[in-house]
Amino acid sequence: MNRLQVLIPTRAAPEMLQALAAHDELEIVAPGNLNVEQLHKALAHAHAVIIRSNNLLDAAALAQAPRLRVIGRAGSGVDNVDVQEATRRGVVVLNTPGANARATAEHTLAMLFAVSRHIPAAHDSLHAGTWEKARFLGTELRGKTMGLLGVGRVGRIVAQLARGIGMQVVAYDPYVPPHADDPFERMDLPVLLSMSHVVSVHVPLNEQTQHLLGRAELAQLPQGAVVLNCARGGIVDEEALCDAIESGHLAGAALDVFEEEPPFGRRVLRFPQIVTTPHLGGSTREAQGEVGRRIAQQVVAYLLRGELQHCVNPHAVSSPDGAPRGT
Ligand code: 3PG
Repeated sequence: MNRLQVLIPTRAAPEMLQALAAHDELEIVAPGNLNVEQLHKALAHAHAVIIRSNNLLDAAALAQAPRLRVIGRAGSGVDNVDVQEATRRGVVVLNTPGANARATAEHTLAMLFAVSRHIPAAHDSLHAGTWEKARFLGTELRGKTMGLLGVGRVGRIVAQLARGIGMQVVAYDPYVPPHADDPFERMDLPVLLSMSHVVSVHVPLNEQTQHLLGRAELAQLPQGAVVLNCARGGIVDEEALCDAIESGHLAGAALDVFEEEPPFGRRVLRFPQIVTTPHLGGSTREAQGEVGRRIAQQVVAYLLRGELQHCVNPHAVSSPDGAPRGT
C-alpha cells in the first residue's frame, strides 16, 4: 500500500501522534524541530505537514512540496504560512481556533501580574543576593481599566479574568459583532487608548493590524500605562514601544511575541521594564494536547475522506492547481 506521509517538523504532543497512529494508511515522520534547510528537504515526500508558529511555510518552502495536500496548523495563527500560495497550489490550510485560547488568556494575565509586580526583575535581584523591597514597589490592578484590542476567543477570556480581579474592561473590535453577554464596554480606539491603564492586543497579524499600536497610538495612552502583547509580533511597533518605555511615558510592557522570533540582539530585550517570554501563550500541557488531537483529526478527515474542518482557504480545493496529487 502506498501510504500518505504526514510530516511533523516540530515538537509533537503525544495526543497528536496517537490520533495519527490509529490510521495504517498514514506514514508519520516526526523528526522534531527542523531548520529551514532540513524542512525544505523533508517536504519533498509529504502529503500533509503539521506545524506550529516556528515553522515557516512561505512560497519557497511550498515549492519544495510537490505532493502536499494539506497544512495543519496546531494552533491558531497562520501568519507563518503563505496562504495565497498554498491556495494557488491547491493545498488546504487547517487550524484549531480556540483550542489554546484559555492557555493564551491565562498567560496574558500571568504577564500582567509579572509586569505590575516586577516579578522577573525581583527574582533576578534576589538570586543575585540582594533584598530590594523599595525598588520593586508594585501597582494594584483592581479598579484599573484594561483596554482590549480584539475580542475573539482569547480576548473574551482575558476580559472575564480581568473582571475577576476587579478591573474595568473596555474593548475595540470592528469585526466581532456585539453580544448581549459581552463582559466589556465597546468604544472607539482613540477613546479606549485615552482611558486604558493596561492595553492588551488579541488580534491576528495581517495588513490591517500591522502596527495597530504604533507610535501615535502609544502616545495616546495615559502616562504610566502598560502594554501587553501575547498575540503576534508586529501588532505593536517595538521601536516605538522601546522609546515610550525609555522616555518614561509607559511604565512597562509584557511581550510573549516579537517582530522577529527569536528576538536575540533586539532592543526590546534590553529593558527590565519589558517582561518577555519565548512565545509561550499556547504552551500548556492541556492546550498542546488539545491542539494536537484536533489538528490530527482534521488532517486525517481531509486526507482520507476529503472533509474540511476549520479551513482558512476552502477555495484551495477548487483552485486551478487544486487537482488531487499523486502519491
Ligand atoms: C497560536 O497562534 O496558536 C499561538 O500563537 C501559539 O502558537 P504556537 O504554540 O504554535 O507557538
